[in-house]
Amino acid sequence: MAALLAARSGEFRVVTETLQRNYFSAFSDRSVSVCGAVRRGSRRLSHVAQLPEVHRMLRQTCRDFAERELAPVASQLDKEHTYPGRQVRELGKLGIMAVEVPESLGGAGLDYLAYGLAVEEISRGCASTGVIVSVNNSLYLGPLLKFGSEEQKKQWIPPFTTGEKVGCFALSEPGNGSDAGAASTTAQLDGDEWVLNGTKAWITNSWDASATIIFATTDKAVKHQGISAFLVPMPHPGLSLGKKEDKLGIRASSTANIILEDCRVPKENLLGGLGMGFKIAMQTLDSGRIGIASQALGIGQAALDCAADYAHKRTAFGAPIAKLQAIQFKLADMAVALESARLLTWKAALLRDAKQPFTKEAAMAKLAASEAATFISHQAIQVLGGMGYVTDMPAERHYRDARITEIYEGTSEIQRLVIGTQVLKEYQG
Ligand code: CAA
Repeated sequence: MAALLAARSGEFRVVTETLQRNYFSAFSDRSVSVCGAVRRGSRRLSHVAQLPEVHRMLRQTCRDFAERELAPVASQLDKEHTYPGRQVRELGKLGIMAVEVPESLGGAGLDYLAYGLAVEEISRGCASTGVIVSVNNSLYLGPLLKFGSEEQKKQWIPPFTTGEKVGCFALSEPGNGSDAGAASTTAQLDGDEWVLNGTKAWITNSWDASATIIFATTDKAVKHQGISAFLVPMPHPGLSLGKKEDKLGIRASSTANIILEDCRVPKENLLGGLGMGFKIAMQTLDSGRIGIASQALGIGQAALDCAADYAHKRTAFGAPIAKLQAIQFKLADMAVALESARLLTWKAALLRDAKQPFTKEAAMAKLAASEAATFISHQAIQVLGGMGYVTDMPAERHYRDARITEIYEGTSEIQRLVIGTQVLKEYQG
């Protein structure tokens, strides 16, 4: 697939540009003709006919992979907290671990819309694998691509494109999550080395990662303007991991503290300029939120698939429950929530691909998609009744997996704050 996509990347760029033009003109005309929901096959609840061929190909490839390699084992991976190493390596071969990375550095050289589609389909099969893919792409490779020097890109990107190695992103701390500017981890220059001290918390991929981007303060006096970003290999002297968190959902991905005790890295491991860390983190999270929105779409879609399928099969009062309006209304509300969140997510990705501001749209996409995933997976359990509450069916896992999408990479409250701030700016005289 990577080779196929690579061979067609010229055509891909043309179709992407055309899609963006059509999309923006469709929106400015107040037309919604760019997307349409059609039912195809018994289990395909949504399909957007106008996606360019390369995007459709990528989407289908990821969907097939998820149905074949992820969905059948997702429950077991979840139960046993097993990192899906083989599947991640296979995704690396398909180019999915580095969707936006140029081919010259080992990636697929595709755009963010393609990335969003891939994360959605992977998460539909297994939400844990979805977040592993998302963190490697958006939070590790993303800032390296944007802020790394040529030397840093050569050293820190190619090994992380194949699925053999994954990266992580260490911003939060035990004492600060939403208030990302209040970092208490420090970095001090000692000769030719930075010495890092502190604890980073809730780090996705940490137990399986081979490198991390650490945010630490180099000048406490200037608050967020004194935060800088550092590249640290893993394992590394002075860096240790806390216990693997026992989580409600996404249990096949690892989450732990990263503890830094006189952890020394060469001077050249500073990513971007001194004091640029907060901006790097904020811009990285703008992009990352599109990834988490896509993960939430995948979870929501899987829950809807499960509920609709069950509604056809389950009989009550002498007929399949799909005949009952109470069930039809539920499915309708679920489908509307999902499709609206999908459009917001695609809009954010398209704006980013068009190099237009997308902070507000990314926050809107994450807010809408994560709340849709929580709502849909809740309703899916209601459709399944008792069967939704037991592990024989995937509905309870979707419900557990959905919950985190409203928390990481900025809670729903933070997304509202970001959106509200941006909306108010638009009304400033
Ligand atoms: N892009 C670029 N710059 C930005 C920005 C953005 N999106 N948002 C803010 N900034 C800049 C501002 O322009 C300002 O710049 P100046 O210093 O030049 O004036 C600076 O950053 C400070 O901005 P604010 O005053 O708005 O910052 P704040 O302290 O009030 O915080 C916030 C803003 C939106 C609440 C931010 O702290 C935030 O996003 N918090 C949530 C953090 C988060 O998402 N954490 C998740 C952890 S990562 C994770 O979950 C990892 C995982 O493993 C999955």
